[in-house]
Amino acid sequence: MNKDLLGLKGVSRAAIGAILDRAAHYKKVIVSGKKKLTDCAGKSVFLLFYENSTRTSSSFDHAAKILGANSINLSVKNSSVNKGETLIDTGITLAAMGADIMVIRHQASGTPKLLADNVTSSVINAGDGSNEHPTQALLDMLTMRERFGRLKDLKIAIIGDVKHSRVARSNIWGLKTMGAEVTLCAPETLKPAGIEAFGVRVEDKIEDAARGADVIMALRMQLERQDSGLIPSVAEYSAFYGINKRVISLANKNAIVMHPGPVNRGVEIASEVMTMPECFIAGQVTNGLAVRMALIKILGNKEDIGL
Ligand code: NCD
Repeated sequence: MNKDLLGLKGVSRAAIGAILDRAAHYKKVIVSGKKKLTDCAGKSVFLLFYENSTRTSSSFDHAAKILGANSINLSVKNSSVNKGETLIDTGITLAAMGADIMVIRHQASGTPKLLADNVTSSVINAGDGSNEHPTQALLDMLTMRERFGRLKDLKIAIIGDVKHSRVARSNIWGLKTMGAEVTLCAPETLKPAGIEAFGVRVEDKIEDAARGADVIMALRMQLERQDSGLIPSVAEYSAFYGINKRVISLANKNAIVMHPGPVNRGVEIASEVMTMPECFIAGQVTNGLAVRMALIKILGNKEDIGL
């Protein structure tokens, strides 16, 4: 039994299904308006966000509190990290305070694994560098499963800055495991080296990726992770890779548009799309709460779901 969730690579279909089923249960609770449960009473969740975050950190915090757990949001900018403490020592300190779960986001790929290897608490990866962001992919899969009733054989076009995207990577691993068909589309300079190793279809033109898709997933242009000069101009990028009404018209009849947020309006998604009924971005955020509740409950109570 694995105490942590560090990524979706290698996670079984049964385990992903179990997390999504539990999340669907909590989604009903959220929709009913209930905001105080006792499912995780007595548990402590520590949040360590070394990188900027709005929705992921607040959603973990809210999820823990709804479940009745104590949630401690470490403001890393004011922590002893600035006095030279190593990540492992910080982890050991929090474990000594009785942390059942540590949620970590870090700009360096592999950091959650380093922490997980050195503490007995469960560790949840809330995004590490360009490696993985498993809870984002799980909430994306929950959103797709709600809309289409299944993941198997769904056609998902992931468009944009694949090179820097941990969201793309976690979705690729998770969706492939669930039997979905993933297509990637990015300008040459934003394709990761060895893109073939993902084992998914790759298209150069957005039209070819969108045609026949059930889901069009835009990725944020990660300006902060780019070495300068990867795209000639933002205007040119949105002309060739931006999601607009025309691109959506090529997709399947019931297709939806998704984006992990935060959105650069007018860059990867035209403003007009944000208010279209096909746009599921707000719904994704609600599902994020449900998925994080499910994981805190499963890992906090050491349930064996075959992770
Ligand atoms: C993503 C992230 O931080 O990886 N955002 C998120 O968690 N909702 C995507 C991004 O920053 O582009």
